[in-house]
Amino acid sequence: MQIRKEREEDYPQIYEMIKNAFKTAEHSDGNEQDLVEKLRKSSAYINDLTLVCVENEEIVGFIMFTKNRIGETEGLSLAPLAVAPKYQHRRLGTLLVKQGLKVAKELSYEYVVVLGDNKYYNRFGFIPAKELDIKSPFDVPSKNFMVLNLSGNKKKLHALVEYPKEFFE
Ligand SMILES: CC(C)(COP(=O)(O)OP(=O)(O)OC[C@H]1O[C@@H](n2cnc3c(N)ncnc32)[C@H](O)[C@@H]1OP(=O)(O)O)[C@@H](O)C(=O)NCCC(=O)NCCS
Repeated sequence: MQIRKEREEDYPQIYEMIKNAFKTAEHSDGNEQDLVEKLRKSSAYINDLTLVCVENEEIVGFIMFTKNRIGETEGLSLAPLAVAPKYQHRRLGTLLVKQGLKVAKELSYEYVVVLGDNKYYNRFGFIPAKELDIKSPFDVPSKNFMVLNLSGNKKKLHALVEYPKEFFE
């Protein structure tokens, strides 16, 4: 099993894998694979932070972090994260998140926001974004909108996250 940056030749496999993974997801609009394709073409895209998990030459996991703005700061949004159904519950999702956060820190990003299952993301240190007074432009339950400060800073930001327009299309 290998985690590496996505490459152009992976795009079709990534598309199908994300589509399949979200079919069984509790919260999904069914368009996550299309969002990835749009974000790739946007200025929010970071190839170093778009990772795949490969097993026997098959793409079995994917994670993407794209640029956002949180007040004065350039931050990251983690979305989406997907593991192929057959490969779930084998810690591949955990490995992808940990590797992504490591690279994000190396690239000097400080804030990462995510909309997702609070129990899943708690384990990586994500806390409800409202604790740092960071708001989402989406109407979502506050416990599911989370933030991680990679430097451990607990300073309140008093800001609304600005996502790239692709998230609203
Ligand atoms: C969420 C997802 C990426 C997790 O990947 P994974 O490789 O199975 O996760 P891990 O093996 O690292 O962690 C598994 C643990 O996380 C928890 N977990 C897994 N999926 C979960 C989910 N959808 N919600 C809440 N907790 C979950 C469980 O506690 C699980 O523990 P267990 O294996 O002992 O039951 C994967 O289930 C997936 O692709 N789901 C569909 C797409 C999706 O919902 N993505 C999340 C977008 S925020």
